[in-house]
Amino acid sequence: MNDSLDALLAKYGADADRPVYDQPAAFTAFVRGGGNVNLYERLSEQLAAGYDEAQPESLLDIGCGDGLALVPALESAGHVPSRIDLVEPSAALLDAATKQLADVNTEVHAWQQPAQEFFARLGDRHWDRAQATFSLQSVPIHDRVSVLKALREHTDVLTIAEFDVPVQVEGTPEQVQSLVSRYERGIAEYGDDAQLVAQGFLLPVLLGQVDPNVARTNWEQPAASWVDQLTEAGFTEIDVEPLADYWWAPAVLITAA
Ligand SMILES: C[S@@+](CC[C@H](N)C(=O)[O-])C[C@H]1O[C@@H](n2cnc3c(N)ncnc32)[C@H](O)[C@@H]1O
Repeated sequence: MNDSLDALLAKYGADADRPVYDQPAAFTAFVRGGGNVNLYERLSEQLAAGYDEAQPESLLDIGCGDGLALVPALESAGHVPSRIDLVEPSAALLDAATKQLADVNTEVHAWQQPAQEFFARLGDRHWDRAQATFSLQSVPIHDRVSVLKALREHTDVLTIAEFDVPVQVEGTPEQVQSLVSRYERGIAEYGDDAQLVAQGFLLPVLLGQVDPNVARTNWEQPAASWVDQLTEAGFTEIDVEPLADYWWAPAVLITAA
């Protein structure tokens, strides 16, 4: 495949057959360590500022994970929406997010589904605000515009956090080398948790991008492509702001209405 990728896999191993979000110990350690500490602090601050400014009564979080972006944002905001809907395919992560919201003064509705299924069965419900933090990258490209269209139809304002990843030609030695170098840098941030994070999360995600036999967990793209897809979905006011520098790629906050 590639010598440096082989060396990385030999060093840490990779649970390539285990879905990364269904048994989430490695993902949970990943999001709570390294450069994610600063990234999530910035993200939760920005989300909280958005709740305080727009004062939404209803909020929809698509792919909420275990609530690491949502819960601190609600805890620090002056305004808390009276109803929050969580959509998350992983039972373990959804359960963790729901438990963390037990002390927040809001009505929580939890939907254990991927966004595609959730919107396919939805009637005419509407939310004042929706957010999707690092989750829409998990919606395959062929489903993405229809999910964005559903978000436009069912919500007033959508906030997306994603990485502004440069275009690379997939499968080239340059692309694999670039992935390996950046993942090595990321894993190095985890100290005692490096093995857990690499084996159970980062390396399966990396392998999904380069090995057709490993289930792919994400399809990332440049911020400009998110803007194009949001425009295709019918959003007309789209704003892209830098969120934080990060070892993988710069993170951006995209607001669309
Ligand atoms: C990188 S995590 C981000 C979690 C959380 N939003 C956060 O910021 O910490 C990606 C999340 O998207 C969820 N996900 C995967 N496929 C999805 C889909 N089709 N629809 C909605 N969420 C999805 C995963 O289960 C996971 O919780």
